[in-house]
Amino acid sequence: MGIKVLGSGAYVPTSILSNKQLESIVETSDEWIKARTGIKNRHIATTENTVELAYQSAKQAIEHANIDPTEIGLIIVATFTPEQLTPSTACLVQAKLGLNDVKMIAFDLNAACSGFVYAMSVANQFLKSGAIKKALIIGAEVLSKIMDWDDRNTCVLFGDGAGAVVVEYDQDTTESFYLNSSGDERGVLTTTPIAVVNPLTDNQAEPIHFQMNGQEVFKFAIHAIKETIMELLEQANLTIDEINLIIPHQANKRIIDKVVKDLKVPSEKFFLNLDNYGNTSAASIPIALKEAIDTRHIKSGDKIMLIGFGGGKTWGGCMISL
Ligand code: ACO
Repeated sequence: MGIKVLGSGAYVPTSILSNKQLESIVETSDEWIKARTGIKNRHIATTENTVELAYQSAKQAIEHANIDPTEIGLIIVATFTPEQLTPSTACLVQAKLGLNDVKMIAFDLNAACSGFVYAMSVANQFLKSGAIKKALIIGAEVLSKIMDWDDRNTCVLFGDGAGAVVVEYDQDTTESFYLNSSGDERGVLTTTPIAVVNPLTDNQAEPIHFQMNGQEVFKFAIHAIKETIMELLEQANLTIDEINLIIPHQANKRIIDKVVKDLKVPSEKFFLNLDNYGNTSAASIPIALKEAIDTRHIKSGDKIMLIGFGGGKTWGGCMISL
């Protein structure tokens, strides 16, 4: 018994920023970015903000699921780049979907790039308890608004976008979830703090920028993915050969190449589409999931693993079915 995806959606801003265009913004090159990450393009918001991206992906997922939207009892938006601190992105999506009069639990969840799998796990608890029948889970980020566009170590890696799924609890799906976290006091993956600025302080407000120690994150990511796969397999009592597709957080192709090598599995076991989107944090797994469904990489009855890792530090994953 576990989570079944009834419908999926994805929405990215129309503006594309290529590696070539980045060459005129920071000292970098198309070759460097492709070789070190596998990324070629990313979509960058101009007019759209987090709520619009989340809403568009949610609308698609509901249409794809072909359900009455009033059956949705829970909306979780995984994001660390919300449009406003309050109301939550989830509440604003509820309003845009015209569901304000439906009895609903709606909130945002911040587990950075692990946000989507954290949200799936939270939804599973609500669904399993019978408190709700269907949930709308969204990953949505506008990372471009917190990038330091002078920092070539980070700004070439990320993109904006959103992905969504409508899910329900299913008797025939394997239930397997694993979540973990370890407080990152050293700032391996972090944003600059929101300063305390008020009439009693002399503090100045600083721009909020994303910062990262790339090599430490690289090592952490490989460990996190392998640990999560092992934990999920053990819980599900399955071998990796019995898994049809693994959809990891889309951060860097070289991270997945190393995991493939270490686990001695075919690279086709992992679905990657980061070349066209960059790293969209909490949105990357649902965007990839939608593409894997559309391109028939997965079908009803398949055993699918989703794996996230990122700021916090946080990591984990879940098994799902279609
Ligand atoms: N273009 C050209 N050169 C660059 C760039 C760039 N965009 N960025 C860094 N460099 C330079 C560095 O300055 C350095 O130059 P130096 O040797 O003269 O000092 C050189 O390239 C090598 O730098 P490294 O940091 O050693 O490069 P590395 O091979 O580690 O690749 C990268 C960097 C791609 C960031 C890699 O460490 C990585 O992918 N880490 C994981 C990052 C990640 O996945 N983060 C997100 C996950 S969690 C989340 O999504 C929030």
